[in-house]
Amino acid sequence: MKIIMLGAPGAGKGTQAQMIADKYGIPHISTGDIFRANIKNGTELGMEAKKYMDQGLLVPDELTVKILLDRVAQEDCRGGYVLDGFPRTIPQAEVLDRSLEELDSRIDYAIDVEVPDENIVKRMSGRRACLACGATFHVEHVPPKQEGICDRCGKDLVLRDDDKPETVQNRLTVYHEQTQPLIDFYGRKGILKTVDGTKPMQEVFGSIAEILGNA
Ligand code: AP5
Ligand code: MG
Repeated sequence: MKIIMLGAPGAGKGTQAQMIADKYGIPHISTGDIFRANIKNGTELGMEAKKYMDQGLLVPDELTVKILLDRVAQEDCRGGYVLDGFPRTIPQAEVLDRSLEELDSRIDYAIDVEVPDENIVKRMSGRRACLACGATFHVEHVPPKQEGICDRCGKDLVLRDDDKPETVQNRLTVYHEQTQPLIDFYGRKGILKTVDGTKPMQEVFGSIAEILGNA
């Protein structure tokens, strides 16, 4: 099963993608997490991506597409995957489609997690992220067992550099201009499913599990 998560920054794509990955036994692939891991390790790719991410802008398609296609070509993706944060532009979606067609494959579901902009800024300031394993927490909604420490891997949790309110506002603008058109793109393909992301996260996941069924 191949799934794409759509939604504004902070809508809960990462949270839901991880739950899908755990339930269905498929890898959770987040381009944002891949970039953040590269920044943390000081790679050339990380340094380049950081210039854009810190301003709330998208990393150029040329960089992003290659990383994603290399990742989904790996062995663990044979049985499917859940993509979180990719595609984010129409050209990215078209490249993904073409590369899947060559393999006689396609995306099964594009799940849009809908959350109005007003709710987003509040969520972001409470988010705490683990840069080592990609797990996400929230100081109020999903507190880690021990403050500042990741439940999954024991590393430190941080406030992401791009979660400052002014950067969040830029990310929302970029989302509406460049990423929201994907909702129509997948709607026309007949694979778009929409869930209400303002509900508590287990409820959101319940709606997603209903869509995906026992696949
Ligand atoms: P990326 O890492 O993908 O960030 P994003 O899309 O802005 O999304 P977020 O990770 O901020 O939010 P989310 O929807 O995953 O929400 P989460 O589950 O954490 O991208 C970062 C940057 O990398 C981009 O700006 C860009 O520069 C670059 N980039 C990445 N991919 C790219 C691409 N394809 N092309 C070009 N550039 C790219 O939830 C948010 C918070 O809310 C958490 O604290 C969570 O615990 C909490 N929460 C979640 N669900 C609920 C709920 N139902 N109720 C209450 N709280 C909840
Ligand atoms: Mg995320």
